[in-house]
Amino acid sequence: MTEQDDITIVDFPAGKRKGLEWILEESFEGWYLMHSKRTLRDVEVVRAAILSGKPVGLVMLKTLEGSAGYVYYIAVAKAQRKKGIAKLLLEDSLRIFKASKVVEVFASVEENNKPSEALFASEGFTRTSFGEVSKKHGKLHTINMYNAMGVVPGEVLLRKASA
Ligand SMILES: CC(C)(COP(=O)(O)OP(=O)(O)OC[C@H]1O[C@@H](n2cnc3c(N)ncnc32)[C@H](O)[C@@H]1OP(=O)(O)O)[C@@H](O)C(=O)NCCC(=O)NCCS
Repeated sequence: MTEQDDITIVDFPAGKRKGLEWILEESFEGWYLMHSKRTLRDVEVVRAAILSGKPVGLVMLKTLEGSAGYVYYIAVAKAQRKKGIAKLLLEDSLRIFKASKVVEVFASVEENNKPSEALFASEGFTRTSFGEVSKKHGKLHTINMYNAMGVVPGEVLLRKASA
């Protein structure tokens, strides 16, 4: 049995999420750490990867105006990285979005965050831009989506058609 076979992915309702904060503390610094902790408390959906009864990774998900999904933060405990856990979390997220009729999924990553962009690329995400999203959704709608996603300068937006 591989390590991946021992991982289960479960929903974390708001009241239980404090126990996941240490994963964020290992994964982010400064503004991102503060913001990721706040998002952990407030975001619609948090899924966590469990190994031997302990959470070792998490993903935060939100739906943007009905038909688009957003992967807010994804993080794996340092000692468990590069074993495919983030990939399992992302595949689980894509299944969840698909089941809720989401037709495209977005994620934003820091320009120089190679592991993160490699993870999303491995699931078929490609870089997109404000101009490209505007062509499809119109400028005003795109501004609203960017605001809802909290994309900040220095980040690139990634997109995958969900179906
Ligand atoms: C990004 C992160 C979530 C990846 O987690 P992980 O469990 O180590 O990733 P996986 O083992 O599932 O790897 C998934 C894919 O990404 C690639 N990848 C992961 N880490 C990588 C690295 N350090 N360098 C290059 N590629 C990497 C893998 O090669 C794999 O692709 P493949 O299946 O085509 O081989 C983890 O490094 C992390 O928590 N980083 C800090 C938080 C962060 O930056 N989150 C992303 C922004 S929200």
